[in-house]
Amino acid sequence: MSSGGDFCICSSVLCFIILKTILVDAAGDSFILEVSPGPIVGQLGSSVTLPCWTSPPINTEALEICWYLPEQFYFPVLLYHDGKIQETQEERYRNRSSLTLRSVQSNGLKDGDVSLRLENLTIGDAGVFHCYVSGDKSYDSQAVTLNITAVGSPLVLFSKPVSDDDTQLNVSCRSSGWFPKPSVLWKSDRTNLSTGGTSHTRATDGTFSVQSWTLISSSDVQQVFCHLSLSSGEERKGGIDIQAIRSSSGSPSEGPWKVLFILTLVILSLLGLGFIFYKYREKLPGKKTDKKKTDEETNTQMTPLVVCNDEVIKKLRKHADVITLDPKTAHPDLKITADLRAVRDSGHYPPKESGVFPYELCVCGDQTFNSGQHYWEVELKVKNVSTKDYWLIGLMKQGNSCSADKSALTPSNGFWFLCSDGPNGVHTSTDTSVTLSFSPKPQRLGVMLDYDKGQLSFYDITEYKHLLTMNTKFSGSVVPLFNPGVGDHSPLRILDLTEPAEASDPTVPLLDSQNTA
Ligand SMILES: *[C@@H]1O[C@H](CO)[C@@H](O)[C@H](O)[C@H]1NC(C)=O
Ligand SMILES: *[C@@H]1O[C@H](CO)[C@@H](O)[C@H](O)[C@H]1NC(C)=O
Ligand SMILES: *[C@@H]1O[C@H](CO)[C@@H](O)[C@H](O)[C@H]1NC(C)=O
Ligand SMILES: *[C@@H]1O[C@H](CO)[C@@H](O)[C@H](O)[C@H]1NC(C)=O
Ligand SMILES: *[C@@H]1O[C@H](CO)[C@@H](O)[C@H](O)[C@H]1NC(C)=O
Ligand SMILES: *[C@@H]1O[C@H](CO)[C@@H](O)[C@H](O)[C@H]1NC(C)=O
Repeated sequence: MSSGGDFCICSSVLCFIILKTILVDAAGDSFILEVSPGPIVGQLGSSVTLPCWTSPPINTEALEICWYLPEQFYFPVLLYHDGKIQETQEERYRNRSSLTLRSVQSNGLKDGDVSLRLENLTIGDAGVFHCYVSGDKSYDSQAVTLNITAVGSPLVLFSKPVSDDDTQLNVSCRSSGWFPKPSVLWKSDRTNLSTGGTSHTRATDGTFSVQSWTLISSSDVQQVFCHLSLSSGEERKGGIDIQAIRSSSGSPSEGPWKVLFILTLVILSLLGLGFIFYKYREKLPGKKTDKKKTDEETNTQMTPLVVCNDEVIKKLRKHADVITLDPKTAHPDLKITADLRAVRDSGHYPPKESGVFPYELCVCGDQTFNSGQHYWEVELKVKNVSTKDYWLIGLMKQGNSCSADKSALTPSNGFWFLCSDGPNGVHTSTDTSVTLSFSPKPQRLGVMLDYDKGQLSFYDITEYKHLLTMNTKFSGSVVPLFNPGVGDHSPLRILDLTEPAEASDPTVPLLDSQNTA
């Protein structure tokens, strides 16, 4: 607030009632105020117009106009008198509020349009605003309700079997950055599904993260869709193709049952081995991460599971593309092999304070995509060297450049990726990110882009797991994006899936520990 004499004349609202009775029926300039019925809905971070106008239209240029919150006459949102906007604004509305036109046809103050424009909306802006105009002979006040909405990040879907046989799947859907709490609807290709459970958590900026799950019978359902919607009508949808991440085993005509049975046995025994190994590892000293506590709040522990199998991976590989790195796009602190397939940090990169992933340390693929399905695999482990802890793999809009600022790396800015940040777990590049932890760490990651469907799916190829699917919308050309992080012993290597030996047996390590960097 500025000093002394310039205090808000909105206080005259206090004598509103008395004056109204005196001035009632005053000839000439008498007017009432009108506002649009029902709440005005504004999107978090954007701007909104709260319409308010005199009836009949009168010239309000010389009148006093005040927008204020209930009970806050002295700290107005906006005060106009003596022909200009006064600076006695409440601090949090300074530079965010102005008088505006309620439509393009409006002549503004000349015709009694005193509509308020508010910019950079925050959750705290939701509520009632009073519009007040005072002339010599008449004045009036009206209330306008402002609702704030925020549509959250693209939905991330993943599934896990409920029991050993994967007849029942638990499909989860996550998204953050919503306001108010969205409602959840699960659907299959044919019917509504019942929601198993939904939980909400509140972020520091006031928005909600949502996690919902449903149980499905994997033989009955082809596709599962998660819909999140607000009462204002805004919504986001995401789907997951159950048959694509499972196998085509649903149709018996496609192959003899025996093969299927053996295949299942193989998978089950692999699962068994994996499980024993996993248990054993748990017993090793020093295995527990100290971040355990915080992880549990936001993470889903992805214990060993087999959802996809050989067949699924074969199907994915039908869409395999040859991906090479484009050295022109590489950060100077990266080393790229001559075959343009492997990348790692050069060792010159200045160490970051811990817990800060080096997002700018990236390189793009040389291939661009603007339609269709594309698949590639990335090796995150070299024989007898530990699996990478740090990596970032995904897509970026062509022409973007990687910034060190995580908050800039969102789908709306043209970044879609999964990032493994050591003990901090794995997060997605969603406007407010979704964090997961995969156990064991993926040794080979499969990336499936379905451009037209707007889906980016990640698979753990060694574990036969579908990790998650991001549901988003692509526009323009996108390029593969890679970031090897800092300090790992293994490089990040794109596999050549055109070599026949590799395509036929995904369990054989594809990468010999030749010097890659
Ligand atoms: C409003 O803008 C002026 C200059 O345009 C600036 O000096 C002032 O700090 C701003 N106030 C707020 C609250 O942002
Ligand atoms: C409103 O947001 C824009 C873009 O984020 C920013 O440049 C501007 O400074 C903000 N204005 C105020 C008054 O906060
Ligand atoms: C399904 O998974 C969610 C986590 O994604 C979990 O909270 C829920 O308890 C699971 N439900 C069942 C029946 O396993
Ligand atoms: C599915 O649920 C929605 C919302 O509850 C409802 O409007 C719709 O009629 C339902 N559809 C079917 C096929 O049950
Ligand atoms: C505005 O918000 C109120 C309370 O939060 C809610 O009941 C109402 O449905 C909302 N209206 C619109 C149009 O979003
Ligand atoms: C990797 O294994 C080979 C034998 O297979 C061994 O000679 C070599 O020392 C191992 N390297 C590391 C880094 O452990």
